Amino acid sequence: KGIIQKQIEKNFIFDNIDTVALAKEFGTPLYVISENIIRSKCSQIRNSFLNKYPDTKAAYASKAFLTLAMCKIIESEGLGLDVVSGGELFTAISANFPMGKVMFHGNNKSYEELKLAVTNSIGRIIVDNFYELEVLQGIAKEHNKRVKILFRISPGVPGKTHKFISTGQTDSKFGISIEENSINLAFKKVLASPNLKLMGFHFHIGSQLFDNRSYINAIEIVTNLMKDLKEKWQFTTEELNIGGGFGIGYSPNEKTKPISYYVDPIMKNIENKCNQLGLKRPTIIIEPGRWIVGEAGITLYTIGSIKEIPNVRTYISVDGGLPDNPRPALYGAKYSAVVANRPYAEKVHTATIAGKSCESGDILIWDLKMPHVKSGDILAVLNTGAYNYSMASNYNRLPKPGVVLISNGKPYVIVEREKYEDLISKDKIPNHLL
Ligand code: LLP
Repeated sequence: KGIIQKQIEKNFIFDNIDTVALAKEFGTPLYVISENIIRSKCSQIRNSFLNKYPDTKAAYASKAFLTLAMCKIIESEGLGLDVVSGGELFTAISANFPMGKVMFHGNNKSYEELKLAVTNSIGRIIVDNFYELEVLQGIAKEHNKRVKILFRISPGVPGKTHKFISTGQTDSKFGISIEENSINLAFKKVLASPNLKLMGFHFHIGSQLFDNRSYINAIEIVTNLMKDLKEKWQFTTEELNIGGGFGIGYSPNEKTKPISYYVDPIMKNIENKCNQLGLKRPTIIIEPGRWIVGEAGITLYTIGSIKEIPNVRTYISVDGGLPDNPRPALYGAKYSAVVANRPYAEKVHTATIAGKSCESGDILIWDLKMPHVKSGDILAVLNTGAYNYSMASNYNRLPKPGVVLISNGKPYVIVEREKYEDLISKDKIPNHLL
């Protein structure tokens, strides 16, 4: 027994579980998600935001990672849910998530998606553009409902992050432009839409932000807008949703900031601006995704081929890659990793962790400092909880990995690993080819 215990201690332990044993039991590649970490993040949001400031709400941005079990965790933590598609909405409905706490985003919601939202009495629809406003009014009228909406506005504030995930700048596909004509037109249209009730505004500046400055700049702009609308239309802004985007650390020298780093100055600025302009401070809503789930996940891979090009580079290939984590190829995202069966071994060289897809760009980590490894070793890539499973594809017809939730030291499969049969389950052969 003592020997077994020693052996376990030698492996990489994630949330009290031996990751090598997990790889053995469930196979690789494997997404592993810690319920404890998700819950501790939610409780930090309660303590440092919801309980600290009155009239505040938080919703989890489900695009980061969504499954039925995740809906249950978020529901029990008392948070709302942000969805951006019929598929995410359907997942929430199927998990019996309280619909009043669901917010629907997106720059091109379809008629069917909006209808699904309206007929399920979703909490808020964040209207992105004029076309949506008209379609939504039609659907709400058809179903004899008054739908509560926010306008997503594009505040003209760039987020300091990768171009692909910055959304608040003027040249963005998202939201109603902040310039006067667009906002006034949107306002006139909503006043002429008896089945819609405008509650306030939403903006989202970008994702993986490490700086609170851009939120403050956007708040300055939006509170001025609130003041204009009050003077012009006697409109009171009841709600202001400031989006998500709080960054997390992906490498050991980049630390995740506490939620207070963002929300304290944001709240102070909103209160000051509202006082200054004689406005009632609206209910403030945040919708973090990555900050809640990013650090709660790791991905386990098995190391296969190892190619050493003398004086050039060593490629260590794993049994997954771009299809289960497209972020390095898409954004140049950087990850760190440990050899799960020898986490404390001396890091004696640098090597490049390659995925198994047929793309030279399928590299998970360039120049990782690591110990010598051999085929069959297990690699744990860290902080893969957000935008990995949710962005996974079947490129090269690789079945998607399963997801195992760690809950109080026990593993539970919350998404089954795909099988080859799943890959062809929707295929059809026309008669003339049979
Ligand atoms: N709210 C809205 C309206 C959003 O568009 C997003 C993210 C969020 C909230 C949540 O952002 P977060 O707190 O997770 O940063 N696939 C990219 C991230 C795209 C984020 C898009 N919108 C990535 O892997 O980095």
